[in-house]
Amino acid sequence: MDEQSAAARLDELRKSINYHNYQYHVMDAPVISDLEFDRLIIELREIEAQFPHLVTTDSPSVRMGSQPVQKFNKLGHPSPILSLANAFSRDEILAWFDRNEKLDGRMRSTAFVVEPKIDGLTVVLHYHDGLFIQGATRGDGDVGEDITVNLRTIKSIPLRIPVSDASLRPPARLVVRGEAYIPIQDFLELNQRLEEAGERTYLNPRNTAAGSLRQLDPTLTAKRPLTLLVYSIVASDSTMPVTQWDTLQYLKALGFPVSRHASRHSTLLEAMEACEEGILHRDDLPYEADGMVIKIDDLSLADSLGVVGKDPRGAIAYKFPSREVSTRLMDIAVNVGRTGVLTPLAILEPVELGGVVVKQATLHNFDFITEKDIRIGDRVMVKRAGEVIPYIIGPVPAARTGDESVFQPPSICPVCH
Ligand code: IVH
Repeated sequence: MDEQSAAARLDELRKSINYHNYQYHVMDAPVISDLEFDRLIIELREIEAQFPHLVTTDSPSVRMGSQPVQKFNKLGHPSPILSLANAFSRDEILAWFDRNEKLDGRMRSTAFVVEPKIDGLTVVLHYHDGLFIQGATRGDGDVGEDITVNLRTIKSIPLRIPVSDASLRPPARLVVRGEAYIPIQDFLELNQRLEEAGERTYLNPRNTAAGSLRQLDPTLTAKRPLTLLVYSIVASDSTMPVTQWDTLQYLKALGFPVSRHASRHSTLLEAMEACEEGILHRDDLPYEADGMVIKIDDLSLADSLGVVGKDPRGAIAYKFPSREVSTRLMDIAVNVGRTGVLTPLAILEPVELGGVVVKQATLHNFDFITEKDIRIGDRVMVKRAGEVIPYIIGPVPAARTGDESVFQPPSICPVCH
């Protein structure tokens, strides 16, 4: 194959693979079989191996991960990456509305957008002329860490926009914000694979996602089932949608993964009802969510309301009832897995947690007990999230009486001795 036809074929393959990748990872609607997809990847790699200088930054082969980095550089955000104020009741949401209404009468006529609040990690993605060029963590809100090499491995992040609608012209500069996370089901499967391999399992989806994004070796990140949902535009040099709802539609049209659980409401009452509906169905979401976010749809109104500290006045989180509770750790049992791995299990004073009585919880591994200095008799914090087995977060040292005892891991297997 000569260079010219290699370049042309690579261009076709990149477009095709990126499109099928989008159908699979963003739309959840693959149009070709895995086998056909793999064939395209193999052909791409063969040509790239022959003509390495033809590898581009939007080549699907970058999803495999590149060379390890020594450390992450700092990357400034084009505008502050703000947080969110919390509310726990309708009264607190109504008070938020009243405060805003006193500042701006347009509050009375705006619509609201309600979205799940994903318990993940904020990421900021930069595109130049449609090409994904860099991405960062939130950091302190002004400066984050440049984790571009890791973000490139996340299959739902478009490497070039628009992904499929060729009639859309991408802005010369576009910076978007989203939440990276590991879906609950993928987390459970990952832990199961690790357990079967006799390796250490992860604590929860959020910690796993955080650790994976901060890996210095991107090939390891590539092996983690990270994904993301994008929900706002941080900066652009073009005219952008003027409402939150249109922003979500626009981001979706460009090929970004956008929540299917967002809804638009013409009154605050309806928006609050949608949040309460979200509470009832929190376990149906494929990811961990810790609330619903109510956002003012009119973005110029939201902007002009300004911020209080790090919280914009234009949005508020309606938090789900907590699924963390404290109880007493009565004992530590030891489970023997199919592969002979020993895992400590907390025996708890039974406690109600989100409608379920919890009597046992995982303690992950023996190092975890040592690292957190968890003692038998301690008051401990327990969390239950979605389908994840209840787990111990840590002890409450202030509640110690002196009667607690340090746990000694068994030196011989309790089953086969
Ligand atoms: S909007 C100005 N929407 O929750 C915009 N945040 O506890 C403020 N989060 O820092 C954020 N899902 O990382 C927004 N649908 C969503 C979100 C969301 C998760 C995170 C975000 C924020 C944190 C605040």
